[in-house]
Amino acid sequence: KSLLPYHTFGAKVNAKYFTIAKSSDELSQIISENLTNQFMVIGGGSNVLFTKDYEGLIIKNEIKGFEVIDETDSTVTLKIGAGENWHDTVMKTVEHGWQGIENLALIPGTVGASPIQNIGAYGVEVKDVIQEVEVLDYSNFTIKTYSTSQCQFGYRNSIFKNELKGKVSVLSITIKLNKDWSFNTSYGAINDELSKNPELDITPLRVANVIIDIRNAKLPDPKEIGNCGSFFKNPVLSNEIANRILEEYPNAPHYPVGELTTKIPAGWLIETTGWKGRSKGNVGTYPKQALVLVNNGGATGEEAWDLAMTIQKDVYNKFSIKIEPEVNIV
Ligand code: EPU
Repeated sequence: KSLLPYHTFGAKVNAKYFTIAKSSDELSQIISENLTNQFMVIGGGSNVLFTKDYEGLIIKNEIKGFEVIDETDSTVTLKIGAGENWHDTVMKTVEHGWQGIENLALIPGTVGASPIQNIGAYGVEVKDVIQEVEVLDYSNFTIKTYSTSQCQFGYRNSIFKNELKGKVSVLSITIKLNKDWSFNTSYGAINDELSKNPELDITPLRVANVIIDIRNAKLPDPKEIGNCGSFFKNPVLSNEIANRILEEYPNAPHYPVGELTTKIPAGWLIETTGWKGRSKGNVGTYPKQALVLVNNGGATGEEAWDLAMTIQKDVYNKFSIKIEPEVNIV
């Protein structure tokens, strides 16, 4: 089965077996029957790079659901199925006037993938709104609920990428949104956009639309240009190492993370290494955002991985910093 329609990088890869699960029961049955074989559950396929044909079973999670489970004067709590499209979910919430995930508009992928790597953009992470994550536990095929703290969220990280990797699969998330709005506009470009029309009210829908414009201006649309979003994580460095870079490059963008560490954007490191907009074979980095690897047409996953490793090596040789993939490499 060709995986072309099921992942966003657009590599020509096949899976030996492929199936779709539309409910928790279906997913539970499929996995219990295949537990001793190689299998993998996917959502939108937007954060995965297949470097070769998959010799096992790919299960696409299409569990739907969008349900208000609690509502107060100031908040609304929603339970959303893992197989729902993330961006459509964001748009549904902002159209209701609910505030909390408007900064996460246009992130590709599904709701079920969002807690796994704690998706984030423009100063907001999904962990900020998550109350609970419901998973199918493969050890006894029961449904388990993880509270926010049990999820051990970090920057693009959670328990689901570590201890629970390959042991559970996400069925739904429960998020709490606000009817009393308080927006995160810490990211400069958001305020710049909003201040162009000071006479207009700031609403969740308007902020989402600003985010959509910002992203469209900088990031490739996977429907047109194959990609899997940011390919690397932004390295979090000790202040000492970050200062060493800042001495040489005083204008390098950098963000403090706590007292002792500093984040330097991987996109900047890659650009400064000379890789921005450059290609090798059929893969390259996006000319407007060096952190995104793009399929120029006909690229294999292997080629993409090869370029990623070349970039990683070149960044290391220049800065002595090892940038790590953010994307799930299969
Ligand atoms: N930069 C460069 N050159 C580049 C790219 C970026 O110099 O080619 C500089 C920019 O000028 C800016 C800084 O790096 O000063 C940060 O760039 P940007 O705002 O584009 O964000 P990012 O750090 O590259 C992260 C997330 C994105 C998220 C944006 C916006 C990671 C790995 N990536 O990117 O998330 O949309 O912030 O909040 O944390 C994703 O995870 O797939 C993703 C797209």
